Amino acid sequence: MAELLSKRAYEESIAKTRDQRMEWWREARYGMFVHFGLYSQIGRQEWAMSVENWDVKEYEKLADTFLPEPGAPRKWAELAKKAGMKYMVLTTRHHEGFSLWDSKVNPYNSVNYGCKRDIVREFVDACHEYGLKVGFYSSLMDWHHPDGWRCAFDTEARRRFTQYIKELNRELMTNYGKIDILWYDVSAPMESWEGWDSLELNQMVRGLQPDIIINNRSKLEEDFSTPEEQITAGDKDWEACMTFNGISWGYVDSVQAAPYSYNAQGILRMLCQVASGGGNLLLNIGPAPDGSVPPEAVGPLTQVGQWLSENGAAVYGKKLPTPCHGTPSAICSTTYDGEKLYLWAKITPPNGEIALGGFDTPLKSVRKLSDGSPVEFTQKGHRIVLKAAAPDPIANVTVYELTFDGEIRHEHCSDYPQLHGGYQHFVK
Ligand code: GLC
Repeated sequence: MAELLSKRAYEESIAKTRDQRMEWWREARYGMFVHFGLYSQIGRQEWAMSVENWDVKEYEKLADTFLPEPGAPRKWAELAKKAGMKYMVLTTRHHEGFSLWDSKVNPYNSVNYGCKRDIVREFVDACHEYGLKVGFYSSLMDWHHPDGWRCAFDTEARRRFTQYIKELNRELMTNYGKIDILWYDVSAPMESWEGWDSLELNQMVRGLQPDIIINNRSKLEEDFSTPEEQITAGDKDWEACMTFNGISWGYVDSVQAAPYSYNAQGILRMLCQVASGGGNLLLNIGPAPDGSVPPEAVGPLTQVGQWLSENGAAVYGKKLPTPCHGTPSAICSTTYDGEKLYLWAKITPPNGEIALGGFDTPLKSVRKLSDGSPVEFTQKGHRIVLKAAAPDPIANVTVYELTFDGEIRHEHCSDYPQLHGGYQHFVK
């Protein structure tokens, strides 16, 4: 192995290649998270073994009944493609410690037990079949390995355990071809990158996969941050990971989860939020014990995929923080690519007019994004009024592409319209 770089040298080194490595990811915007493991059979949550105080020997029995149907990963990828997603991240081994691949380091795996299949291999093949980038989720925490907790206070146990984690990830980075994303989770019980030997671990990973991008959960900043169950823009690359129902990452009963699950408009709202903040959305499904996709997710994901096929320019590709200060209208949100302002109208007013305040730059043209049809508008001072097009038939979110004559200057109007026409910000 090449000489181990110091933290400073390592971070300088990966900074040099970050833009090239991240280019596809920054344009992809949208991926599918898949939480699948022994916990899927329990149907309560992926933390069941821990929060429900399972006896390890009792929990291990779930390995014999881990029986996903043949072709299950292909169904996940098929749905991700239909949804307009560009990459997938699979829990290759969650905190329960069960590996979904043919591991020589961890015999507690899906080739030795249950279905006796390499689910990771099937997942990678499915991603390739559907032209999706490949992401591996890899938990650092482990409730099955005897050193998984002792490592926090026993030097020898820590050495053994960090070596175990390193070898698990070496297998994943060696045996499945090009891997695009390594998505670490829960660096516990050690609490520092030094405790995890993350510097050595990640240099090994990057040595095997030079173009890979790594998240921030091995206690090193790496390539992107991971706000969870919230959409909070970061000052560097960031990806919001979200459950589909706000309840569990793992499978829960579909009929009972459906009322809590996102509909198409809820997913579009998140896509607008991440795109307007220059981040990504990793939206989760928790397949059932047989590997089937949760039916409550299929409709909304497919609907959004159809919408994206006509309005993708407002989501995918380079996006900058929106130039609008505050929202130019309660019924609209915006995304921005540095040239076009995309106005997402969630409501089409009955009088057929969408009015926007605060724009100090002349508006040149407006098109309905989905079909390119021109949209009539007026602009008097800072007030723009669009003649609304027919509402989008797929998800009732209609996107207008606005082209301004130069840099967009926008200020949220004051609360007192009588003040200088409401725009004291622009008055010299
Ligand atoms: C949290 C949960 C873990 C889940 C992860 C997804 O870390 O502990 O179960 O896989 O979020 O981001």
